[in-house]
Amino acid sequence: MGLLLFLTLVLSVPFGCLSIEVSYDNRAIKIDGERKLIISGSIHYPRSTPQMWPSLIKKAKNGGLNAIETYVFWSAHEPQYRHYDFSGNLDLVKFLKIVQDEGLYAILRIGPYVCAEWNFGGLPVWLANMPGVEFRSGNDVFMNEMKNFTTLIGDMMKKENLLASQGGPIILAQIENEYGLVSNTFAERGKSYLNFSINLAESLKLNVPWIMCQQWDVPQMYHGGTNFGRTPGGPYIATTYDYDAPLDEYGNLNQPKWGHLKQLHLLLRSMEKTLTYGDVKSINHGKTVTVTIYNLNGKRACFFGNSNDTDDATVVFEGKKFVIPAWSVSILPDCSTEAYNTARVNTQTSVMVKKPNKADKKPFKWQWRTEHFEHLSSHSSSKRSQFVKGLSSAMQLLDQKIVTNDTSDYLWYMTSVDVDGNDTVWAHKVALQVRTNGHVLHAYVNGKHIGSHYAKIRNFRFTFKRHVKLRQGKNIIALLSSTVGLPNSGAKYETIQHGVIGPVMLIAMDNQAKDLSWNKWVYKVGLHGEDEHLYNDRQNQGWSIRNFPIHQSFVWYKTTFKSPEGEDPVVVDLLGMDKGNVWVNGNHIGRYWPGYLAVQAGCDSTCDYRGKYNPNKCLSNCGQPSQRWYHVPRSFLCEGENTLVLMEELGGNPSLVNVQTVTIGKVCGNAYEGNTLELSCQGGNTISDIKFASFGDPKGTCESYTRGTCESPNTLSLIKKACIGKNSCSIEVSEDAFGSTGYCSGSSLKRLAVEAIC
Ligand SMILES: *[C@@H]1O[C@H](CO)[C@@H](O)[C@H](O)[C@H]1NC(C)=O
Ligand SMILES: *[C@@H]1O[C@H](CO)[C@@H](O)[C@H](O)[C@H]1NC(C)=O
Ligand SMILES: *[C@@H]1O[C@H](CO)[C@@H](O)[C@H](O)[C@H]1NC(C)=O
Ligand SMILES: *[C@@H]1O[C@H](CO)[C@@H](O)[C@H](O)[C@H]1NC(C)=O
Ligand SMILES: *[C@@H]1O[C@H](CO)[C@@H](O)[C@H](O)[C@H]1NC(C)=O
Repeated sequence: MGLLLFLTLVLSVPFGCLSIEVSYDNRAIKIDGERKLIISGSIHYPRSTPQMWPSLIKKAKNGGLNAIETYVFWSAHEPQYRHYDFSGNLDLVKFLKIVQDEGLYAILRIGPYVCAEWNFGGLPVWLANMPGVEFRSGNDVFMNEMKNFTTLIGDMMKKENLLASQGGPIILAQIENEYGLVSNTFAERGKSYLNFSINLAESLKLNVPWIMCQQWDVPQMYHGGTNFGRTPGGPYIATTYDYDAPLDEYGNLNQPKWGHLKQLHLLLRSMEKTLTYGDVKSINHGKTVTVTIYNLNGKRACFFGNSNDTDDATVVFEGKKFVIPAWSVSILPDCSTEAYNTARVNTQTSVMVKKPNKADKKPFKWQWRTEHFEHLSSHSSSKRSQFVKGLSSAMQLLDQKIVTNDTSDYLWYMTSVDVDGNDTVWAHKVALQVRTNGHVLHAYVNGKHIGSHYAKIRNFRFTFKRHVKLRQGKNIIALLSSTVGLPNSGAKYETIQHGVIGPVMLIAMDNQAKDLSWNKWVYKVGLHGEDEHLYNDRQNQGWSIRNFPIHQSFVWYKTTFKSPEGEDPVVVDLLGMDKGNVWVNGNHIGRYWPGYLAVQAGCDSTCDYRGKYNPNKCLSNCGQPSQRWYHVPRSFLCEGENTLVLMEELGGNPSLVNVQTVTIGKVCGNAYEGNTLELSCQGGNTISDIKFASFGDPKGTCESYTRGTCESPNTLSLIKKACIGKNSCSIEVSEDAFGSTGYCSGSSLKRLAVEAIC
């Protein structure tokens, strides 16, 4: 069936030359006048690499999709005002051409607002720094810039013939996104902005229908990917954007999800005509069971839904009995035989494992350098400050994102306090108190680190307080503020001030206070190591191997490693490190923070798919580092030596850091009678052993299967014969294949469960 569908699709979508007319009615999108079932998955091109795109898109297509959707990431394409970047993983045109080459449709979500945990909602920080701007509202500054960028994208699509009307893949475009969530905040300005957006969309003349997702918009996330560099939104969003999507962060098939969805997609597409042209009728069978029938000139398709979240239901339909598991839907493409049930998974579960890098078994040899802090004592001496890059000053505390303008996560706030030697109150122990909007603060007095603090996830404002001893004469107070991703959602998020917002106070023992907020503050954007490009392998000076520092803040570490052989995705395991940044061959892998632990509670309850979705369901890794492995795309690696650089901000020990590959370690198969079970390993690995196999009523889940009350006695030996030594094997699940199971006292529907080692 899969093959047939595939042929039909290719024949009916003659991309590349002929113009396609896209329209819609109240039932479906219409392509050249025919209603189509568009099954679209989202793949965000900057979250992977151009080298990964062909295989990601092919896997999405093999998974039964016929369309790929993506946002357009303004802040990435125009990082500085009128300086554009469409290279590397920002090559939108190349991405869309690969989609086209696969014969898939594309849905382009021009936005420009991006609600996908992207830094600052995909809008450039320089735009927030333009005077008088108000994001996503009837504001001239914003609307002019939005028009300028969306026109650029529209023109680019037209020039490259990427629109359906030009024979290209783009069948739908989207302007704005989820605006319903914020429009009320802006009242009339919201209405005029919506009107503007609609007019703007029309003016781009793309000749495709426009959509404007609102509250209902929860796109299926087909491939999440990785937030490289400083792209994750914030605060505190990790580099992994995996989201347990059907293709994992690395582009591996996330099984059983990918396979289970593939069956659904292909089945739905085989019913396309009936679903989009047939009459629809729904009949309630009791409180929680619904039978929906599509009928097109006597050709019928049925959906049986059971929304009871605890109990299975039995439906008797035209004399036949069907068992619908709790919280599931059965699909009967002919209203008489069940072809699919959402709760009965007939696909293998892949248990991914990390494997050591066989190409490089030696422990890493590290070199190190500390971050330079000379500006801490020299900032006010004009003679030396000319050597310090990126200094500016103001008689007030400034918003961090205005000063850094999104060029670094780090900003120094520096001032000085004179203490008269005869002043016994101040030349003594005092408290330094700093109010900050986060996300991390490191404080130094007279060049000495006096403490660091970071905020908790939800409440990122905090007050830092430490006791210090001031000296006679000039005292230098230096505060290093670091952001961990700018906010990316909610109305007016661009107005949130970041970094040290003040007051900054010195409080003496007798409670006298000096407010330093209106002092002269000297600002330095970024770290010295960033200015010196220490992350680049070409930077070879000043590194040392002696007196190796561990658990010390602001240390740069550097080592080399050989690329793992094969094709399996590569990760760097940063266990032992706390918070910082990681680069491979000068490519910014991203911010790391394995020192940040997930909350301890919430993993103890058993995982039950039944009932409404909520994000706290089926939690795993409680109390573990929120992210320990960081994806290093193969295209960042070279033959021979690769350079790995870490900048540790809080204090870590790199001795455990190592490079690994991700592959399938184990596959568990589960399939009900009448289906075929397919097991397969990854990357040329073969099935080496079968740990468990039972056809009957086995209990449990992957890695904890047990025998039930009945089974066909030869199951294990038959499966071993069919699978061991092979990269993949395919098993028909029936008593014909395995022999009689005898009497089963458990479930009436027999299933096969297998656990295999890759
Ligand atoms: C931020 O950078 C842009 C260039 O992208 C520049 O035009 C603007 O003046 C800068 N803003 C500030 C506040 O430095
Ligand atoms: C965008 O702005 C630039 C000037 O910064 C201008 O040259 C260009 O024409 C504008 N594009 C559109 C479509 O308005
Ligand atoms: C929407 O824009 C159109 C065209 O610019 C204008 O004629 C119309 O009055 C606007 N409507 C509202 C409600 O602002
Ligand atoms: C589910 O079914 C059981 C048994 O029929 C019934 O007691 C229960 O109320 C049902 N739950 C809901 C939410 O309808
Ligand atoms: C401290 O007090 C002494 C005696 O009153 C005075 O001579 C000296 O100048 C004062 N020092 C400063 C720095 O004010």
